[in-house]
Amino acid sequence: MEKPFNFDTFPDRRTTESLKWRAYAKDVLPMWVADMDFLSPPKVIEALRARVEHGIYGYAIDPPSLKQAIMTWLEARYQWRVSEEEIVFVPSVVSGFNLVALALKTPGSGLLIQTPVYPPFLNVARQAGMKDQRLPLSRDAAGRYYVDGDRFRAALTPETRMFLLCNPHNPVGRVFTREELWIMAEACLEQDVVICSDEIHCDLTYSGHVHIPIATLDEAIARKTVTLMSPSKTFNLAGLKFAFAVVPDPALRKTLKQLVHDLGGGMNIMGLVAAEAAYTRGAEWLQHLLKILESNRNYLYEYVQNELPGLEMQPPEATYLAWLDCRGLDLQPNPYEFFLNEARVALNNGRDFGAEGRGFVRLNFGCPRATLEQGLLRMKAALERTKMVS
Ligand SMILES: Cc1ncc(COP(=O)(O)O)c(C=O)c1O
Repeated sequence: MEKPFNFDTFPDRRTTESLKWRAYAKDVLPMWVADMDFLSPPKVIEALRARVEHGIYGYAIDPPSLKQAIMTWLEARYQWRVSEEEIVFVPSVVSGFNLVALALKTPGSGLLIQTPVYPPFLNVARQAGMKDQRLPLSRDAAGRYYVDGDRFRAALTPETRMFLLCNPHNPVGRVFTREELWIMAEACLEQDVVICSDEIHCDLTYSGHVHIPIATLDEAIARKTVTLMSPSKTFNLAGLKFAFAVVPDPALRKTLKQLVHDLGGGMNIMGLVAAEAAYTRGAEWLQHLLKILESNRNYLYEYVQNELPGLEMQPPEATYLAWLDCRGLDLQPNPYEFFLNEARVALNNGRDFGAEGRGFVRLNFGCPRATLEQGLLRMKAALERTKMVS
C-alpha cells in the first residue's frame, strides 16, 4: 500500500540556508537544533505555493480566519475555549516570552525559570533587566525530572513577578502532570506571579501522556497566564516565524500588543498562510508524524540501553529531543565535543541549558529512521574506538 506521506527521505538541506545543516563541516551529521528533517505537510506546501504565485507580499492584517483556526485547534486538542480577542500574534515564541518579560518588569522584579532549560530562557531576565531566579528541576534516582512543591514554593520570592514555564519541557522531555501544574499555578497565584507558559512542543506529546495547558486549570489561573504556542515545531515551519500568545488579561494584552507593534516588527505573511493551512488541514499528517516520532523515540531508547552502555536517558514524553546523560563515561573534553570530534555527529551541548546540563547532550530524533540509525552507529563506533565501551 502506498504511504500517504513521506517520512523516509528529504531533500538536500545543505543547498538551502538551513542552520542545522550549514553550521558544521560536510562530514558532520547534524542532530542538534530543533527542526525536523521531514517535509512539511503537503497541504501547507500547497498553500504556500499558491501564496507565492499571487506575487504581492505586502504587510498583513491578523487574519480572522487564522484566529478561528487556532480556536478550533485548541478546542479540539486541549478542550480549551479561547476567544478571538485573547489571541495575540507574535513573530516567534522567543520574541513572545521576551516581550512578556518587558511588559511585566518593574524595578527590582524577578523572573523564575526551571533549569536545565531551552537556552534562550537563560537570557530573558538579563535582557529585560529583571532579577535572574533559577530553580533546578528535581530529579529522581532513575533520572526522571519532576516538580517538587516545597522547592518550587521556596523559589518564589517577594520579588518574583514572572514565572517562565516550559511545558512540555525542553530538554528533559517531561509533560507535566495535572498535579505538578497545580502546584506551580497555585503557588504563583498566591504570590501574585504571572505565568508565561511556553507550550511550543504541546502537539508533539506521545501516547500515555496528555498535555494540559496550564491556563485550563481554572479561571483565576487563566487570568494570570500568558500561553505561547506555535505550529512551528509541530509542522516543521520554524523558519517562517509565526507564533501566538493567549492573553486573557486585557491590560497585559494591551501592553503586549503595543510591544509587538513597537519591537516585534509585524508578521511574516508566509508564516500566517502556513499556520492556517497547518491548523485547518494538517491533522492527518500530524497523526502520522507522531507515529514516526514515537517509533524513533522507542528505537533510540532501546539502542541507548543495549548498545551505548554508560549513557542514560529517560524516554521523552513529548518533543523529538532526547536528553542523554553521559556522566557515566569520561568523555573528553566534554560529551558534546567528543561526539562532534570522534563521531562527527553534532548534538547540543548540555552545558548550554544551564549549569545542571554539564555532562549531558541533547539529540534531535526528528529525522528519518535511516538518519537516526546512522547517527547512533557513528556514536557507538566512536565510543568503541576510544575504548569507552566494548
Ligand atoms: C521551548 C522552546 N521555545 C521556543 C522555541 C523557539 O520558538 P520560536 O522559533 O518560535 O522562537 C523552541 C525551539 O526549539 C523551544 O524548544
